[in-house]
This record gives sequence, C-alpha cells and structure tokens, in this order.
Amino acid sequence: MDIIQKVRKIFQQNELDFKRQLQNVCALLKTQKEHFDWVGFYLVDQSKKNLRLVAYSGEPTQHERIPFGKGICGQVAESNQVFIVPDVAAENNYLSCSPKVKSEIVYPILINDKNVGQIDIDSHKKNAFDSNDERLLKNICHTVTKYFPSNFVI
Ligand code: SME
Repeated sequence: MDIIQKVRKIFQQNELDFKRQLQNVCALLKTQKEHFDWVGFYLVDQSKKNLRLVAYSGEPTQHERIPFGKGICGQVAESNQVFIVPDVAAENNYLSCSPKVKSEIVYPILINDKNVGQIDIDSHKKNAFDSNDERLLKNICHTVTKYFPSNFVI
C-alpha cells in the first residue's frame, strides 16, 4: 500500500473525528519519511484572520496560532502557493519553532480555490525538500479536501 492509499484509509475510519484523522496522517508521514521531522496541519480561521494548529506530530511548538502574512505559513495563507524553504536562516519572514529546524515546506489546501488550511513540514536537514515531496503533498492535500467535512467548525 502506498502512502496515499494509507492516508485514504485513515480518512475512511469513520469512528475517528477529522482532527484525529489529521493527527494520524501527521504520524504516518513522520514515520514514513526520514527527512520529515515535524508534520502539522494548520487550518484557516477566517473570522480571526489566522491559522490554527489542529494536528501535528513532532515536538510541541509555541506557534499554535499564526496571523495571515506572518512566517512561511502566514505567507502561504495569502499566496495560496506552495512555499519551499531550503534554508530557514535565509528567510526574514520566518517563525522558528526549534533551532534544529533547517528547512521547511508548506503546501496549501484549497477547496474551490478557497484556502482552508495547509500542511507544514520541517526538516532538521538543510535543503531537504524537492519536487517529489511537493508532488506527495499535492496528493495528500487533494485527498484531505475530499474528506474535509462540509460542516467543519474550527
Ligand atoms: N516555521 C513556520 C511556523 C510553524 S513551525 O514550523 C511549526 C513559519 O515560519 O510559518
């Protein structure tokens, strides 16, 4: 079974609520990919114009809420574009979770062109992410949209 099939299987577990499903996806990705040291889902809170961390696997972070425009995540909330950061030390608009983190990728989750959240992955290695990761995250975010509850309230 490939990773996407495993992700689908997690979302088909109806006894788990959506946040728990996202948490299981984080844990799956972190164990399957050696260079994924922290994996989290931030979802958009439109009323507060910020992102809220709803599930993660890795060390706890102080960035549980991120205003639109702040950091890599906040920039993706406004651009709706994938953002690969080969070296976090070279970024001015960056929020550090841990000095161990050296590179990052953030991929937006879009439903009908509307940004509902994103997946954020940190690595302890510089330049850890490439187009294969981008493709994988594209597929994962697409899968998330298929199972995103229409009545989900953050
Ligand atoms: N580095 C992110 C903040 C989230 S942590 O990586 C968990 C940013 O700059 O938005």
